[in-house]
Amino acid sequence: MKSVFRDDCLAGRVAFITGGGSGICKGIARAFLAHGAKVAIAGRKQERLDATAKELADETSGECLPVAADVREPKAIEAALDACIERFGKLDLVVNGAAGNFLAPAAQLSYNGFRTVLEIDSMGTYNVCRASFDKALQAGGGVIINISATLHHGATPLQTHASAAKAAVDSITRSLAAEWGGLGIRVVGIAPGPIGDTEGVSRLVPAGVREKMEKGIPLGRFGTIDEIANVAVFLASDAGSLVTGETVIADGGQCLLGSGSMGLM
Ligand code: HXC
Ligand code: NAP
Repeated sequence: MKSVFRDDCLAGRVAFITGGGSGICKGIARAFLAHGAKVAIAGRKQERLDATAKELADETSGECLPVAADVREPKAIEAALDACIERFGKLDLVVNGAAGNFLAPAAQLSYNGFRTVLEIDSMGTYNVCRASFDKALQAGGGVIINISATLHHGATPLQTHASAAKAAVDSITRSLAAEWGGLGIRVVGIAPGPIGDTEGVSRLVPAGVREKMEKGIPLGRFGTIDEIANVAVFLASDAGSLVTGETVIADGGQCLLGSGSMGLM
């Protein structure tokens, strides 16, 4: 997709993106590279990260570093950030996209299932924010983008775990924006609605339900990975310089009509 942004709007920036090996955050990594940033992508699966880094570097002629780390393990995140800073010399942009989700009625969701999703989404986001603050942002400022969702704006049956986890993510975004704004750190979020061609939609939207859900969306369709990447480029670039503490909803207006169409999941 041809970008609407200036090609060099992220030139000289270094980004660390969790979940960058696949889906929406791979799209954000691609867009950051295409706009001049150097990018480290993190996830648990080294093999997939290696393949994605090579694909994105070939496609954009940018530099992409694959680093394996589980966001639930602060020491592993610290080591991954060290590898990023050692390779690229600094860190300016952090995207927290690592997440886990599945459909499960609360009455059948195990205690460990609930805990696992909160540990990946909410605690993982905090771990990466905190470690990148200590290692780089505290001294040099920067932008943190936390990937949220719209599940918790209403009620989302079968996703008590993910809904609670993303509510915590939005809260972390606001609190850190307030605490760290004076250090030149902006903390923002993006809350995508359903995005086509992603693991999220393939896990959460049963066959045959997509068309019904799209009828409940004012713009009449699911979003695309590139559309979320565009929001991330805006927030990461100087165009977003006054935005902090806010989680931008990019869902084609789905939320405006309540959680009815999410409930169809
Ligand atoms: C019920 C489940 C389950 C399922 C796992 N669990 N899958 N319970 N239904 N489908 C339970 C397990 O039984 C276990 O509890 C506990 O969760 C931990 O499972 P593990 O497999 O040991 O955890 P782990 O290996 O850490 O994997 C985490 C995961 C996995 C979330 C379960 O699916 C994963 O790694 N996902 C990453 C990719 C992903 O989910 N992408 C989609 C993001 S989409 P017990 O009690 O048995 O020990 C998204 C969209 C939001 O976030 C909004 C969309 C519109
Ligand atoms: P995805 O491709 O499954 O992305 C999730 C990524 O997180 C994967 O690359 C995965 O890599 C990584 N990950 C999971 N657990 C991890 C852990 N413990 N440590 C480190 N990395 C981990 O899913 P997606 O659909 O593109 O979703 C991306 C983001 O958008 C998520 O935050 C999701 O909640 C949000 N979102 C998606 C939608 C949608 O419609 N798809 C809607 C709203 C919000 P590994 O498996 O290699 O670890």
